[in-house]
Amino acid sequence: MHKNVTLNKESVPAVDLTKCRTILSKYNQATPADLIPILQQVQDAYGYLPQNALEEITARTRIPLSKIYGVITFYSQFSLEPRGKHTIKVCTGTACHIKGAPDIKKKITEVLHIHEGETTQDYKFTYDPVACLGTCFLAPVMMIDDRYYGKLTVEKTETILKSY
Ligand code: FES
Repeated sequence: MHKNVTLNKESVPAVDLTKCRTILSKYNQATPADLIPILQQVQDAYGYLPQNALEEITARTRIPLSKIYGVITFYSQFSLEPRGKHTIKVCTGTACHIKGAPDIKKKITEVLHIHEGETTQDYKFTYDPVACLGTCFLAPVMMIDDRYYGKLTVEKTETILKSY
């Protein structure tokens, strides 16, 4: 899935590259096919893909930075900015929409002060946009990390958010 990537270098601090270098040490003869596994491991290590880690990847693997950005842009699993500890997804599919998803979304914004695509200032939550979550019988439904919360009400939503 294509996504828009905006990178504000000033707001994203450089990270200690030790973990990145450890990962890259397993790929002495890296080929383009290794790029996705490398990016996945680096993201797992830092929670996102820091700019200076990408520069390290390009220097060590000789895979051009433009190609690396192309892959990051293509796959929604990759993030160029620090993400929250927990990921929230609220279904915006038709069944959920009809059963009140817009109110659930409003409640999330009211409680956490973020909109879709944003992360709370304390990096506790990232609120990702998503279409149908595939559990329409639970409408309206949201996910936090890999847990589903169905048949939501605004009151239930607030209680769930506050339990994290
Ligand atoms: S429409 Fe919400 S889970 Fe399918």
